[in-house]
Amino acid sequence: MTFAPVTIIDHPLVQHKLTLMRQGETSTTKFRQLLKEIGMLLAYEVTRDLPLKNQTIQTPLATMEAPMLASDKKLVIVPILRAGQGLLDGMLELIPSARVGHIGLYRDPSTHIAVEYYFKLPHDVEHRDVLVVDPMLATGNSAVAAVDRIKEYTPHSIKFICLLAAPEGIAHFQEQHPDVAIFTAAVDDKLDEHGYILPGLGDAGDRLYGTK
Ligand code: URA
Repeated sequence: MTFAPVTIIDHPLVQHKLTLMRQGETSTTKFRQLLKEIGMLLAYEVTRDLPLKNQTIQTPLATMEAPMLASDKKLVIVPILRAGQGLLDGMLELIPSARVGHIGLYRDPSTHIAVEYYFKLPHDVEHRDVLVVDPMLATGNSAVAAVDRIKEYTPHSIKFICLLAAPEGIAHFQEQHPDVAIFTAAVDDKLDEHGYILPGLGDAGDRLYGTK
């Protein structure tokens, strides 16, 4: 089977900010700020292939043909609640016209299975490109469940964007969604027995919202 690519976004700014986020002593305020900044940088990288179309415009001095985004249908960003919200904020700074869907999933603590509690997408998602965002691709269960649900609405395309991935999560996701490209800032070593990424950065939601 062929898989859509896994792209590691190894930009020095992303890597530097990710290292700061990994450090246990990084405060909630700083963690939130860094996740937002990385969200912006990831948005920049994952939108590299957006098609452009020349438009005739008038500068103060002359008329010219200048490139603008070709699609009249705005992107849809779908954060997986709750930690995905932290990446969304930065992505929206860079793509303010994007539409936003939401999927609420919690991880059953014993089975690690994703249970849905909220789901809302723009009504015309079938014409749009969707970016599903969650900082952590750990077991892959939430990512798989989110993309399963979104595919029911047959969007034009789907990409999955995270901050950190575990090899187990990538393998599980690719098995279920071989057509969906993954973008991540790093691939860590493995999962621990609780489904946390090692070395990782801990619980992204707790660190983002100060709930630990
Ligand atoms: N979710 C997190 O927040 N952290 C992990 O390491 C794994 C899943």
